[in-house]
Amino acid sequence: MKLQRPRGTEDIYYENAKELTALELILRNIASQYNFHEIRTPIFEGKDLFVRSIGTETDIVSKEMFELLDKKEREFVLRPEGTVPTVRSIIENKLYGKYELPLKLFYIGSMFRYERPQHGRLRQFNQFGTEVVGVKSYLLDVEVILLGYNLLKLIGLEQVTLKLNCLTDSDSRPKYIAALKEFLSNEKLCDDCLTRIVNNPLRVLDCKIDHDKFILAPKIHEYLSPEEATYFNNIQNVLNKLAIPFELDHKLVRGLDYYTSLVFEMTTLDEEGKELTLLGGGRYDHLINEFDQQLNYPAVGFAMGLERILLTLAKNGIKLATEDELDVYVIVLSEHARYFASSLLLLLRSNGLCADTDYLNRGVKAQFKSSERLKAKNVIIIGDEELKKNVVKIKNQATGKEHEVKFEKIINVLMKGKA
Ligand code: HAM
Repeated sequence: MKLQRPRGTEDIYYENAKELTALELILRNIASQYNFHEIRTPIFEGKDLFVRSIGTETDIVSKEMFELLDKKEREFVLRPEGTVPTVRSIIENKLYGKYELPLKLFYIGSMFRYERPQHGRLRQFNQFGTEVVGVKSYLLDVEVILLGYNLLKLIGLEQVTLKLNCLTDSDSRPKYIAALKEFLSNEKLCDDCLTRIVNNPLRVLDCKIDHDKFILAPKIHEYLSPEEATYFNNIQNVLNKLAIPFELDHKLVRGLDYYTSLVFEMTTLDEEGKELTLLGGGRYDHLINEFDQQLNYPAVGFAMGLERILLTLAKNGIKLATEDELDVYVIVLSEHARYFASSLLLLLRSNGLCADTDYLNRGVKAQFKSSERLKAKNVIIIGDEELKKNVVKIKNQATGKEHEVKFEKIINVLMKGKA
């Protein structure tokens, strides 16, 4: 039997796991600076939840869901994204009545999409997402954009493009769709686009094949109602004031149907110079109301792909995690010393030191080699001679200096070196 992980998934270990954990830590810190609170929802949900909210004509729902049947033949899916489960949880747990509004939530976790795996596109990937729910204010749209923008800056990603668009939610949406359809009727389009024109014309603009044909297409932000236009202008004005550069992209429609107004993405270039979307989001003012007509809670948020961030960091030679280092490696010269090492390790570790020893019964030379590979700052050497005298030898690997130290002084000496 050939052991192989499923296509489009990754095993994450050692350096890469450390890098992912370091990124998650930074994300948690910045989220709490912006006063966001964590939400964890199940990794699988009822299928209907996503079908109703993301849209049956979207790629995610029509092609990309990992579907499961339980023993009673109920339909579940591995969650393809985090917004809809968050909304489900807000409604089910009545979070709007329990916590300060707006609810400012964040999540970190695995999402699943049955996509064709390629560079930066996986079937299981991790997202950091934020959702601000309960208040409509262009300042919250800006806050969410700022959170995304600043966190990319904080981790050292400077070459990022922020793209904005605004989808209309007013009576002019049908007018826009009619104008778009009229424009598209004169273009030769791929088969997918021909289906989308009928089912979900906005999504045509998102087509990766026909993309270049839409430069002259009618622009949705020119069809906004006066209130929508003011709202979108306000966002742009604040961003200008804060010196956050952005581009308007009238082809940016996003792959989910719940957006009602602002949509945005932050992109960078991958190794081959192709555009890679690091994060995307927008305002979705009706989603909660669509699930529960009693509730009127507008919302805005974004999600970011952590693997794409890690790829971009690696491309730019940026490391977030500090290198693994041991404070102490214990080298044993005899069987007795090996026995003693166990209690010494316990003492070292209970004083907060990172410590390890040899378990392969190797000679001194090999143990010293290990201590170097593990980048130990100190080695402790114990043999029968030392045990007789109640001492150990401590060698500082940076200076090469070696001292004999009494048992009861070991922690003192090592802690001094650490300070
Ligand atoms: P999304 O654009 O579908 O939006 O995904 C957000 C981010 O997740 C993408 O920009 C990308 O970095 C990452 N991503 C998506 N699919 C994959 C994949 N197959 N492999 C690796 N990374 C991927 C959403 O999910 C919305 N829920 C965002 C949102 C939150 N809107 C409002 N609130």
